[in-house]
Amino acid sequence: MVDAAISVRQLTRVYSSRKGFLFNEVTRTEALRGVDLEIAPGELFGLLGPNGAGKTTLAKILSTLLLPSSGSARVLGLDVVRDAPRLRSRIGLVLGGERGLYYRVSGRENLRYFADLYGIPRAERESRITEMLERVGLGAAGDQRVEEYSRGMKQKLHLARGLLHQPELLFLDEPTIGLDPKSARETRKFVRALLSEGVTIFLTTHYMFEAEELCQRIAVLSKGKIVATDSVAGLRQLVGGDRTFEIDGYGFEDAELARLKALAGVSRVVTEEFGPRLRITLRVQSPELELDRVARALPGHPELEVRERRTALEDIYLDLVEEEPA
Ligand SMILES: Nc1ncnc2c1ncn2[C@@H]1O[C@H](COP(=O)(O)OP(=O)(O)OP(=O)(O)O)[C@@H](O)[C@H]1O
Ligand SMILES: [Mg+2]
Repeated sequence: MVDAAISVRQLTRVYSSRKGFLFNEVTRTEALRGVDLEIAPGELFGLLGPNGAGKTTLAKILSTLLLPSSGSARVLGLDVVRDAPRLRSRIGLVLGGERGLYYRVSGRENLRYFADLYGIPRAERESRITEMLERVGLGAAGDQRVEEYSRGMKQKLHLARGLLHQPELLFLDEPTIGLDPKSARETRKFVRALLSEGVTIFLTTHYMFEAEELCQRIAVLSKGKIVATDSVAGLRQLVGGDRTFEIDGYGFEDAELARLKALAGVSRVVTEEFGPRLRITLRVQSPELELDRVARALPGHPELEVRERRTALEDIYLDLVEEEPA
């Protein structure tokens, strides 16, 4: 195999923070608890996980912004701790949200500052900045002050900033958070264009369809540990296949749920409340089980609605994350 673009071994990160009166209580948060990961060059890899799972922590460690507590990580063949200065010029990081920009000056001036920081030659600087502003869709707004930018425009400027020095590998931490559907779509198109140019991309997102649409492989991080890594198709197999049944009705009893769980081919039963109604979701592993059979297991429910749909990435994600012990 070609050298991995990202290779992570037993990576941990502990945050200590002081709390309480006199700040004498030290709390330890184990944000990463032994992460292993291998990402190939040219791959678009997605990292999913609940709030606080450790996604941003991992992205920051891999982009040399934060030190690990233990374990090792190599990016583009370089150690993220020992070779950090050399690595920095070859990677880009785009954090979601509105921080990290200078609001009092224009988008163009922001990019000038970062161009100098990245050591982009003066002769190339202006043309590179103009090209980047055009590419992210800020061509007309480049000379406007950033404080006048909408959230979406700031996000685009973040992207331009992360790409200015033409990195081989890009970390995108929730790049479409808070964007309207059209801007989010433009960003995804842009990400695909980068991929076709050979840039390796590490993406975190909370949008399941985004991960499903973009990513070749996905890892699910839960409480600082990776619980699964695979293609969407592979993950679907892992949680019990393609078939999902949804049953809507009123007042199901525990015995009825137990009866569903006992049906041959049912691997998981999840219940959710929708106002007075209850929805039961079944993951179905066997091709034989039919909707009728499920309905017959719940007699005395004239209101019952039963349907089948394809298992979505969101189902898979919830299965993986909820099965994790506390
Ligand atoms: N600077 C910090 N000091 C102390 N604890 C921190 C710090 N940064 C993050 N944490 C904690 O580490 C854990 C992981 O946080 P992290 O930001 O990596 O999660 P995340 O997966 O990116 O979450 P989200 O989806 O909300 O962005 C959380 O419990 C968080 O509270
Ligand atoms: Mg985060």
